[in-house]
Amino acid sequence: MKAVICTQYGTPEVLQIQEVSKPIPKDSQILVKIVATAANSGDARVRSLNVKGFMKFVMRLVLGISKPRKPILGTVFSGIVESKGNKVSKFKVGDKVFGMTGFKFGTYSEYIAVNQNSNVLEMPKNASYEEAVAIIFGGHTAIRFLEKARITEKSTLKILIIGATGSVGTAAIQVAKHHSANITAVCSSRGHKLVAELGVKNIVHYDKEDFTRRTEKFDIIFDAIGKYGKNQCKNLLNKNGVYVSTNLGYASENIQQLKLLKELFEKGEFTATIDRTFTMEEIVEAHRYVDTERKKGNVVLKICE
Ligand SMILES: NC(=O)c1ccc[n+]([C@@H]2O[C@H](COP(=O)([O-])OP(=O)(O)OC[C@H]3O[C@@H](n4cnc5c(N)ncnc54)[C@H](OP(=O)(O)O)[C@@H]3O)[C@@H](O)[C@H]2O)c1
Repeated sequence: MKAVICTQYGTPEVLQIQEVSKPIPKDSQILVKIVATAANSGDARVRSLNVKGFMKFVMRLVLGISKPRKPILGTVFSGIVESKGNKVSKFKVGDKVFGMTGFKFGTYSEYIAVNQNSNVLEMPKNASYEEAVAIIFGGHTAIRFLEKARITEKSTLKILIIGATGSVGTAAIQVAKHHSANITAVCSSRGHKLVAELGVKNIVHYDKEDFTRRTEKFDIIFDAIGKYGKNQCKNLLNKNGVYVSTNLGYASENIQQLKLLKELFEKGEFTATIDRTFTMEEIVEAHRYVDTERKKGNVVLKICE
């Protein structure tokens, strides 16, 4: 089968399509023929090792010293169950599934074998493969950070979402709406239309106004783009307000996040924001685009028709 191999850390050109062996599912695994995956900021970070100082050393230890130990990157997939191990009871051949692999990576590939009890579910009934895969990365990250900020514990919260047009930001808007939060979103003037389409009325343009000087206060500040420190935002926080940032901590994955995303998508409360779609052969171009840090929502990689 074909897969995208990360041959070393570096620019998008280090990603090369190669022939590798097709996995054989173990007893409790399903073999998924991948239809779509996504090129996310997380994949670009692993590929480029674009982190500062000590973190670079930590990442090399975790991911591999001179190149990724798991050379097939990608953490999200949607596709069809092609075969299964003899202990699999949750899925049948032909099921349309979507899921996330976290630090196991491996989705920039034509096939993946995953355990039936891992983070995999039947796709939302009303989703295309592209939509299903596009809601996962930003969605699970937004859920993780907003739960950390205790969004589930109170009602009528005022929340400020910074970086509202990225994969995480567009998802955060929709998760916050689900929790009936009163949302103010920070984006550039270019991103206004998208954020308004996601139903936000209070929109601040960071290219026109220094929002950190506002006198308004918020219960939660979520820096979804990880560029504004707590100190910079401290005047915007209520006395018991909580600040969370994608720059602080890792958004671990779990099946509840995937279940919630599926439920919200099926109820029409969550939509997939897809900026561009590339083919597997266009992987370098896809990563170049992700590297610009200007994408609106998500970049999908179509693996097969
Ligand atoms: N800790 C974790 O576990 C975790 C998980 C996921 C992501 N992350 C990190 O979270 C960050 C966001 O991820 P993402 O996937 O959402 O990124 P992304 O999709 O690449 O974000 C791009 C968006 O950010 C906007 N943007 C760029 N600079 C901005 C600024 N100064 N203020 C407001 N908006 C700005 C851009 O719009 P304009 O060009 O119009 O400004 C663009 O729409 C990344 O740094 C990623 O590495 C961390």
